[in-house]
Amino acid sequence: MNLTTNYLGLKLKNPLMPGASPLSDNLDTVRRLQDAGASAIVLHSLFAEQIERREAMVARHLARWNDSFAEAMTLFPEQDDYSLVPSEYLERIAKIKAATQMPVIASLNGTQIGSWVAYAQYIEEAGADALELNTYFLATLRNISGAEIEERVVEIAHAVRASVKIPIAVKLSPFYSSVAHLAGSLEEKKIDGLVLFNRFFQPEIDVETLEVTPRLDLSNQEDLRVRLRWLGMLRDQVKLSLGCSGGVHTPEDVVRALLAGADAVQVVSALLKQGPEFLANLLAGLSTWMEQHEYESVQEIRGALSMRNCPDAEAYERGNYLRTLQLWKE
Ligand SMILES: Cc1cc2nc3c(=O)[nH]c(=O)nc-3n(C[C@H](O)[C@H](O)[C@H](O)COP(=O)(O)O)c2cc1C
Repeated sequence: MNLTTNYLGLKLKNPLMPGASPLSDNLDTVRRLQDAGASAIVLHSLFAEQIERREAMVARHLARWNDSFAEAMTLFPEQDDYSLVPSEYLERIAKIKAATQMPVIASLNGTQIGSWVAYAQYIEEAGADALELNTYFLATLRNISGAEIEERVVEIAHAVRASVKIPIAVKLSPFYSSVAHLAGSLEEKKIDGLVLFNRFFQPEIDVETLEVTPRLDLSNQEDLRVRLRWLGMLRDQVKLSLGCSGGVHTPEDVVRALLAGADAVQVVSALLKQGPEFLANLLAGLSTWMEQHEYESVQEIRGALSMRNCPDAEAYERGNYLRTLQLWKE
């Protein structure tokens, strides 16, 4: 049985990998994930926002020094020489590469174009095999249109593409007015793949304390549906690699993602809940399903139920809106 897949130009032994999360923070956990069969590992994101806040703090601190101890400043490095590079993150890439055989996919969440480009270059230099761009934008302001938000994603992807050679995936959210148009634009900019989708954490209102608090919930299987829809719809429209992220909790979910058109399947919540070893169960379940359904390779499954190959393409488009509504029985 051939489980291999090609994702972002990387030849992987199977399609399963832990997605961006704290699962990559501990070397022991990373080794356990490898032992469970993970074909690659995605690191949690490097958030430029955090680094820039620190940079601003240090700049203010140095300016104060400068005023009070002008002559002493010659003993200190110029601010530009201060190593505010997120060294721990970059070291982690090197450590995981040294300790495992898995390709390492780093993840970046920048702010301005400059920070996306600069950190992408650091990440490439640190030895990452690929880079996921975590574009976490919400259109919250009335003077910014949906089109502007989409253009920004394309602009960032284009700038990063021009500055690094490693494969790039863009991790999207489902909240774009035209996911397919955006996917096409990213393909034109020579991006290698898409990760569908990021999960936004929604606010919760506490009716006793009258506070609005962000809430971090793990996903459930329902979250997979919107991914399946877009995997199925995009599979026939772009040649990009497609990674599924969100709502994969069982071996059947892995199969569903592949049938819709995923080249790789990322898992986070299920591994956080059940432990790294659960990845082996997902993998074993995939093999069993393939055996039972007489599939020889993951390649045969991939996209077998994409929109074009699906007997009822309407199911992807409007989700058979009218018929589905009529299915409801009291
Ligand atoms: C605790 C936690 C931390 C996460 N950190 C990141 C991150 O740093 N970057 C990112 O792109 N996604 C991050 N995610 C999102 C996951 O990569 C993934 O897209 C999402 O959880 C949906 O997959 P799942 O249903 O398998 O959990 C995080 C998720 C969780 C639960």
